[in-house]
Amino acid sequence: MKKYYLMAPGPTPVPSQVLLAMARPIIHHRTAEYEALFADVREGLKWLVQTGQETMVLAASGTGGMEAAVTNTLSPGDQALVIRAGKFGERWGEILKAFGVQVIALDAPFGQTVPAERVADALKKTPDIRTVFCQHSETSTGVLHDVQGYAAATRQSEAILVVDTVSSLGVADLPTDAWGVDLVVSGSQKGLMLPPGLAFCALSDKAWARVKQAKLPRYYFDLLEEKKAVAKNQAHFTPAVSLVVGLREVLRMLRAEGLENIWKRHDRLARATRAGVEALGLELFAKATPSPAITAVVSPAGMDGEKIVSTYARSHNITIAGGQGDMKGKVFRLGHMGYVSDFDVLVALGALEQVLAELGYPVHWGSAVGAAQKVLAERPS
Ligand SMILES: Cc1ncc(COP(=O)(O)O)c(C=O)c1O
Repeated sequence: MKKYYLMAPGPTPVPSQVLLAMARPIIHHRTAEYEALFADVREGLKWLVQTGQETMVLAASGTGGMEAAVTNTLSPGDQALVIRAGKFGERWGEILKAFGVQVIALDAPFGQTVPAERVADALKKTPDIRTVFCQHSETSTGVLHDVQGYAAATRQSEAILVVDTVSSLGVADLPTDAWGVDLVVSGSQKGLMLPPGLAFCALSDKAWARVKQAKLPRYYFDLLEEKKAVAKNQAHFTPAVSLVVGLREVLRMLRAEGLENIWKRHDRLARATRAGVEALGLELFAKATPSPAITAVVSPAGMDGEKIVSTYARSHNITIAGGQGDMKGKVFRLGHMGYVSDFDVLVALGALEQVLAELGYPVHWGSAVGAAQKVLAERPS
């Protein structure tokens, strides 16, 4: 028997109290009981998303939320600016192209970021740009983008800013209203500690005004219809009831911890992970601000990153993630978001020492774990 550990950058482990809540007999969604449940969830999401606006809760994976953000804010032939510095930045471009939107891409090598000045310049050069799309945490590279800077640049223009927070909601601070982010997209299976299956879209007044003008085809993800339902503590179509039940539980847990503590916990775990990795002589893939959700590590010279992932699985029953697209084989990724605490990080790093040693890399036993413990033992400020 080998105990199983899920240490990928999503899906992430689900706490037992959330699993138990979701295991209760299903309730019907057109009932007062569901309305009371959803009323709690609405309030909790306002708190977590840091907005006075409502959050639309959709039955979809995160990409469904991304598609909803595109089809509800744009019309055929519109121009959109995309921050493209990773696989999920590329995904914005792919969705936009699929719906006939003209994409102006601001590219940066994967592992790096796009400075906010480039966004400001692009918006000045092309004032017809309707929407700016970016990630907060780019899960494929482990970089945290400068959403505050992008929001400041976008506010000077007619455009709206859409931010994919699939791997940063409940992980990294993003004061939606204070920064002036117009549309926050997220998903359930990362910082929110839930199974996959819920997508979230929270819109500013500027974004809602766009929804009324947008002409791209949409049916299932019609946010105006969804908003009418939400106002009645309902969903437009059958909601993913059990996941919404789990969400209420998660929101309770997160509220008990408090926003500041949530950011601090993830920051500590990420710093400990990075210290451990670097103590082994490995290189971090992120060359810009690293994401507190995930650490992408460059595979040692001559070693296939996929081998590291498969050795974690075979020898230790631990799931981590490899590189995506061109990064396949070149990086491996350790998730540390959601239901994760100090000793999970030590498990991941202890296993990394053993995996690398098994693959022939010279390992000084305890170096990664020790370096991480040093960070974890810091007194909280
Ligand atoms: C930053 C980011 N955006 C979007 C997605 C896509 O979400 P999903 O796989 O739930 O459709 C992911 C999932 O890994 C992600 O990490």
